Amino acid sequence: MSRIVYLNGQYLPEEEASVSIFDRGFVMGDAVYEVTSILDGKILEFEGHIARLNRSLSELEITCDITPEEWLEIHRELIARNDLVEGMIYLQVSRGNAGDRDFHYPPAGTPPTVVLYTQSKPGLADDPKAKKGITVISVPDLRWHRRDIKTVQLLYASMVKMAAEKAGKNDAWFVEDGFVTEGSSNNVYIVKNGKIITRQLSNDILHGITRASLLKYAAESQMEVEERLFTIEEAQGADEAFYTSASAFVMPVVEVDGVAVGSGKPGPVATRLREIYLEESRKAAI
Ligand code: PDD
Repeated sequence: MSRIVYLNGQYLPEEEASVSIFDRGFVMGDAVYEVTSILDGKILEFEGHIARLNRSLSELEITCDITPEEWLEIHRELIARNDLVEGMIYLQVSRGNAGDRDFHYPPAGTPPTVVLYTQSKPGLADDPKAKKGITVISVPDLRWHRRDIKTVQLLYASMVKMAAEKAGKNDAWFVEDGFVTEGSSNNVYIVKNGKIITRQLSNDILHGITRASLLKYAAESQMEVEERLFTIEEAQGADEAFYTSASAFVMPVVEVDGVAVGSGKPGPVATRLREIYLEESRKAAI
């Protein structure tokens, strides 16, 4: 049975879902997206992702009048039609079919292109990488300066993931003006003397939905959090490091640019935060 996807109001087998060659998402990278995780057939962090989607749309003046209730219904319908138990739902909204290539936005009233599909990942919450920890390289942050908008312009993120793989490592951390901004597709943290340190929010990083919940859970567990800049050298000298994202939850980082962080194994703070995050977000899933 082929996967059933959502395209502009219709549920279709994936082979039958197609988008115009003039679509702004295809020609201009003019589209925004969200990724939500599904555990036990339920959606994690739904409200946060839809709120950020609406913010991304409004920053780019893309009109899409789907309500949060309708988004929820689409997500649930896709979960049911694809028997999705553990995995992700990818959602993308582009500025739509402009009818030709043009730098100017198409006229107001041009309908956006709305695509959602499921990605089944049995064992997502039990990723063996979380027990071993992952390794990262640092790379210059050459992305544009509106990283707070979740656009589909992910070519540089793909390039640095490939560079990491070529170097025999798992992922890359971006560095700008001497300080770590974020990971290629995640927000990053270090731990020193029990304190969790992560870069403060600005247009320089994506405002992670997992990050917001993690900082809330850390505060509720009486862990100290400091939002400030840090360097690669500070990360290498930290007791622990980790990253967060919707699809990886909390992932320990055990090596930065060839230097082991702390013991070189996942540390107690990252391990505990992963447990808390999974437990709390499963409880709150809808
Ligand atoms: N990436 N920073 C960047 C650059 C990201 O691409 C992501 C998410 C995050 C973490 O945000 P959140 O916690 O809301 O997932 C931070 C998603 C998972 C992706 O592109 O697949």
